This record gives sequence, structure tokens and C-alpha cells, in this order.
Amino acid sequence: MSEPRIKAPRGTFDVLGEQASVRSSLESRARSILEGAGYERIETPVFEATELFARGVGSSTDIVSKEMFTFEDPGGRSLTLRPEGTAPVCRAYVEHGMHKRRQPVKLWYLSCFFRHERAQAGRYREFWQVGAEALGSDDPALDAESIALLATLLSQMGARELRLRLSSLGSPAGRESYRERLVAYLRAHEQELSAEVRGRIDANPLRAFDADDPGTRRVMQGAPRLLEHLDSSDLDHFAQVRALLDLASVPYEIDDTLVRGLDYYTRTVFEFTSDALGAQSGVGGGGRYDGLIEQLGGARAPGIGWAAGVERILLAGSASPAATPALELFVALQAPGSDARLAAFGLLAEARSAGLTAQMDLGGRSLKGQLSHAAALGARFVAIVSAGATVLKDMQAGAQRELPTDTVVHAVLRAQHAL
Ligand code: HAM
Repeated sequence: MSEPRIKAPRGTFDVLGEQASVRSSLESRARSILEGAGYERIETPVFEATELFARGVGSSTDIVSKEMFTFEDPGGRSLTLRPEGTAPVCRAYVEHGMHKRRQPVKLWYLSCFFRHERAQAGRYREFWQVGAEALGSDDPALDAESIALLATLLSQMGARELRLRLSSLGSPAGRESYRERLVAYLRAHEQELSAEVRGRIDANPLRAFDADDPGTRRVMQGAPRLLEHLDSSDLDHFAQVRALLDLASVPYEIDDTLVRGLDYYTRTVFEFTSDALGAQSGVGGGGRYDGLIEQLGGARAPGIGWAAGVERILLAGSASPAATPALELFVALQAPGSDARLAAFGLLAEARSAGLTAQMDLGGRSLKGQLSHAAALGARFVAIVSAGATVLKDMQAGAQRELPTDTVVHAVLRAQHAL
């Protein structure tokens, strides 16, 4: 009796073949767009102190209250698999004294994240995000640049039916009097709200705009809007962001009900959705978080950034796999298992050291099988090695000639040079 099969956990996936290739083309586009705009790659640990997310993302958010993979290590410390990348990047900014560098410090990442959500198409428990964070400046031009870079990446990846929703949440001080009005409004309609929204009226009243249940949605249609209650400096900041996006020809819709599922946002918030996706239409989102670094124990430094789901970009897009490098030399054996195997292996190593792409048959095929394998791989040259010498076939020209094995690499290089 064979053992029962072990499957990958629910909400996780393997990345195979063509998918791996499409993902690497996303990575190279992201690198060229973001590094071209002055962003440096950063990788932070897969797990962090639980406190980082409780304090950074907010303990009343769904992410922190319901979705984190949290565990205790053997030393009794509470650790969490990162559910998002902004708090870790801000932690790293503080920990490495990056406030001493020229500001803004621009960082990008392509990493895996973990949320215990109900798994469905486009929603996973381990997923990947490409993200960009710019720290140390509150210039509205940084907001517009950041949003425009994501728009460029999504359009280069062929994401279809995209919409950009934009709003401003103002700064916490300016938000206080609005918050009181909203809480009073929600209290006045308490009976019509869902139990979840009712339970969060004091902790997180803005999240009521994001509720799905019909009762809450009806109430929220008449709720006071934050955009109408911003103070003059927040209004001015938002007006500048909009003007700069217009200048950069990035189309957007103002959505005064846009709230994000993380508590650190201040001022600009935005979300790209694709109508080509089903229920999980959020492709990427972000915003400004001017208080987060201070909340994590650093000196006050503003920040703006976004993250986009790699799987969602690919679902919404039409990216083709990155081209695999052409095979320049295939090394075949005249007779499988012969002494020539050593010479063939030496030739393979020599070809690779000389910078050629080279493969040899490692599956014990007959010569006929090896030649058809070489043809399937699209090899430009095939070297058929036997004990005494090697026959070098030019697969494009159809010509072949016999030569000493130790001159094959030179001959291939010379032939390529002549092309
Ligand atoms: P977020 O909106 O929670 O923001 O996630 C960003 C994107 O990650 C979403 O738009 C979606 O494409 C993808 N995503 C989220 N959860 C899942 C999931 N379970 N399965 C598949 N994809 C998912 C953040 O994470 C913020 N850190 C963004 C940010 C950066 N704000 C400022 N800087």
C-alpha cells in the first residue's frame, strides 16, 4: 500500500513552467520601471514581531484581528508571517537609520505575503506583491509619481479594464471633528447596521464605507463624507496630487467612499481595480502614511507607497512568458553510456565557461532520441561526441563536419561571430 498523498495547503499554489516565466517577466519590468525612477530593492524577513503589525496596521483591522498567521517561537516570542510590506519597510527604515540618507528614500519589493482569508480565485493565503515605498517627503509630486509608476507597470503588463479610484483621508488632526460627526451619524442609525459595523463604531467608523451588507450600504449613502470635511492644507495637498496626475495623463475617478483596509493611511489613498476580474477586483492599492514611522518608534517621517498583487496582475493581464535563452549548443553522444561520456561532459563544461548556452542529454536516450530532443529545444549547433572525434552539425545550415573535440567550442564561437 502506498502512503496517502500530501497536498499543498489550501490557498497556496505551486508556480510551474510558463507561470514562472510570466512572473519573471513581471519582475524584470518592475525592476526596470522602479529602479529607473530611483527605487532600490529591499527584502525584509518573512516573519516579524507580531507587535509590528498590531501597532502598524492597526489591531481593529480585519488583517490583524482575523487574518494573521501568528505563532510563538521556542523562546516564547510572538511572531507573525508578514501580511503586508509597508510596516516592515518602515521598520527597516528606522532600524537602519535611513533618515540620515538623502530623502526621500525609495524602496521596492517583490515578496510573498500571508493572510488567512477565505481562499477563492484571485485570493490566496500565500500570495505575492510587488510594492514601492517612498519615505521622507510629503511632496504631492511624490504621490503622483508613485501612482503613475504603478499605472505604467499595470499597462505594460497588459492589465485590462483598469480603473483608478482616488481620494484623500486628510491628516488625523483634521479628521478628528469629522470622525465625531460620523460616529454620531452611525449611532443614530445603529439598528440598521450590521453587527460587525456596529461593533466597530468607535474603533474604526470609516470602515463602515467598505461594508457589503445592504442595510449598512443604505445608511452609508447618506453618511457625511470625509472629502467635504478636509482642512485647507489637506485640500491643497489633494488638489496638487490631482493636478499632477492630470499633467501625467493618468486617468482617475474621485471616490469619496474609498477607505482602505489598513489603519496607517493619511491624505492620499488610491486603488486600481480591473473589471476583467471577478469578485476580487483589487489589483493594487496604496496611499500616504505620514504617521506610521513615528508610530513604530522612529522620528517623524512621512511616506507614500503601494502594493499590487502579482497573481491579480497576471489574471487581469495578457503578459506573455519571458523568452527562454536560445540554446546554442547541444552535446550528444554517438553511443549512450560510452567512454565518450566523459569527453562530452568536459565539452559541456568548457562551452558554458566560454559563455555559450549548452545542454547535454542526461536521460540515456539513443542518438536518434538525442537529435530529436536537440531539435525540440531549438539548438543552433549539435556536437555528436564519440571516442575519437566529434561531428559538429549546424542545424540552421544543415551542414556538418568532423573535428577534434577540444576545438568544438572555438568552432561554435567563430561560426557565431561570422553570423
Ligand atoms: P492591500 O490593499 O491590502 O495593501 O494589498 C495590495 C494588493 O495585494 C491588493 O490590491 C491585491 O491585489 C493583493 N492582495 C491582497 N490580499 C491578497 C490575497 N489574499 N490574495 C491575493 N492577492 C492579494 C497593502 O498590502 C498595503 N501594504 C499597500 C501599501 C503599500 N500601502 C502603502 N504602501
